[in-house]
Amino acid sequence: MRMIMLGGPGSGKGTQGEKLAQALGVPHLSTGEALRNAVRDGTELGRKAKPSMDAGTLVPDEILVAVVRNWLAQPGSAAGFILDGYPRRLTQAQALDTLLRETGTPALDFAVDLEVAGEELVQRLLLRAREQGRADDRVEVIRNRIRVYEAETRPLLDYYTAQGKLLAVPGSGTIDEVFQRILARLATARGQAAT
Ligand code: AP5
Repeated sequence: MRMIMLGGPGSGKGTQGEKLAQALGVPHLSTGEALRNAVRDGTELGRKAKPSMDAGTLVPDEILVAVVRNWLAQPGSAAGFILDGYPRRLTQAQALDTLLRETGTPALDFAVDLEVAGEELVQRLLLRAREQGRADDRVEVIRNRIRVYEAETRPLLDYYTAQGKLLAVPGSGTIDEVFQRILARLATARGQAAT
């Protein structure tokens, strides 16, 4: 199973991506987490990514494509994977399709889109800011992340709809309710794909 997680900042991509990876027995890559680790470790990648992350804008494509290419080259992802936070704009989606084709990897199966209203996103991230203090969970940066999502990432919904791969799932409710919705949606889509 090869899947990507789409949705606004705070929609639950990381939370649900991890649960799905465990349930399906495949590895999970959060590009945001990979970049935050690089910033924390003071690597060259982290230094290049930090200004965009602090501003809530997208890190340049070539950095992300390299991160994803290196990760997919590891043997663990051969049988499947969950990508969360990538792709985030059309050029990244096209680069992923090319990368999979060039490495002889089967194409993506599904793109899960978690739908959560803007104000709920802000509230979730402000709560996390109080609990964890993530650097980009400041209200003006959160609003910018939402604007960037609407302008650059939302067009991917059309891209994956056109390929018949989009699974839109309401992302409000408890974490477990959302997870059960995703599993149900996935089961239906897999059943349809098999007939
Ligand atoms: P990234 O880490 O991907 O940030 P994001 O998209 O803003 O998403 P979040 O991690 O904030 O939220 P999420 O949707 O994963 O939700 P989560 O499960 O954490 O990226 C950070 C930055 O890195 C970007 O701004 C960009 O600069 C850069 N970047 C990353 N990928 C890139 C790319 N491909 N190209 C260019 N730049 C890139 O949940 C959020 C909170 O809500 C948590 O506290 C959680 O506990 C809570 N929560 C989850 N589900 C629920 C629920 N059902 N009910 C209540 N609370 C919930």
